[in-house]
Amino acid sequence: MRNVTSNGLEGVVVADTGISEVDGERGRLVIAGADVEQLAASGGYERAVHRVLAAGGARLASVGLGPARIAAWELVPRLGDALDLPDAMDALRTSLGHLRPSGDDVTDAIAALGAAPVFVAAWHRKRAGLHPIAPDGELSHAADYLRMTTGAAPAAAAVTALDAYLVTVIDHGMSASTFTARVIASTASDLISALVGAVGALKGPLHGGAPGPVLDMLDAIGEPARAEAWLLAELAAGRRIMGMGHRVYRVRDPRAAVLETAVRPLASPRLELARAVEAAASKILRERKPERPLAANVEFYTAVLLDAVGLPREQFSATFAVSRLAGWSAHVIEQRRTGRLIRPASRYVGAAP
Ligand code: COA
Repeated sequence: MRNVTSNGLEGVVVADTGISEVDGERGRLVIAGADVEQLAASGGYERAVHRVLAAGGARLASVGLGPARIAAWELVPRLGDALDLPDAMDALRTSLGHLRPSGDDVTDAIAALGAAPVFVAAWHRKRAGLHPIAPDGELSHAADYLRMTTGAAPAAAAVTALDAYLVTVIDHGMSASTFTARVIASTASDLISALVGAVGALKGPLHGGAPGPVLDMLDAIGEPARAEAWLLAELAAGRRIMGMGHRVYRVRDPRAAVLETAVRPLASPRLELARAVEAAASKILRERKPERPLAANVEFYTAVLLDAVGLPREQFSATFAVSRLAGWSAHVIEQRRTGRLIRPASRYVGAAP
């Protein structure tokens, strides 16, 4: 066997998958046989969940997330202090850990998909000193998540935009969190454990933790004329521009365009500023790193969209997880069908005995 060290595993193919394909050169994302633009425009997170799980090899007639949300609500009083953790991702990771694996991946996936919005919304309400709100099984996943968070019936435009977001980020090739889920599944562990591990991987700012900081950046910049100076100071301080750059894309992330379109009907006061900041950041990064294309990634307009639909920024990464649980579950199911134990090697560079 040839031993090559690849610290970030760039270009290393670890699985054949029918779930999604990321074309980083052309900026194209195909999810279960559909372009992301098409999938987001056709709407319906529940339909996308069905499509993604089926692409992973799950056999299921339809996906009912309403009953799963209601079942999860029964667990809320039994989550110990999970919902008191100050970070939403820690709260989600810990509360999902309370789900009991049933031995059936599809059953566990639906249970986790139903539980996540209920737990995250309850976390937010508790933190705000408010009572958690019970789910309404008749509503769509997007509408009920908004309602359980804000306590009010959401506007139709906000539901449409959030639904488009949930569909857009449902899966994305072999992301770090997806790989985490597949590694855990490859040991023949249960699906809930794989999802809990994946939430931990998503939490980091290099992966799913960026949208909150993107909104902080937009607030700090305040107006388009200040963008360039602010960004230059940020780079001079040795920090990265949040929402810019991607491990795979060498052009603008196609999901950025989908989300930018989806947020337009909401008339967000931040949209124009975001466009100006993106333009300034692209120009500066192009000048600094002409050899490494760094364009807007999904998190840039995620921040604008999730803010515009009325979700608090502390909840942004957990909202990403609310959607991506479907992709992770599909990958766990596919890994079991087609994969084998993932066990790479390391090269010892320590002291000799
Ligand atoms: N701002 C400034 N510089 C950046 C940058 C950014 N957002 N993204 C990458 N770079 C620079 C790196 O500092 C590095 O410079 P160097 O060669 O002088 O060290 C160079 O571009 C190559 O970056 P690299 O670390 O190889 O990229 P990666 O593939 O490991 O990282 C990300 C990809 C997403 C982690 C990275 O672009 C990033 O940190 N972006 C900001 C966080 C973010 O938006 N995360 C959400 C991702 S969807």
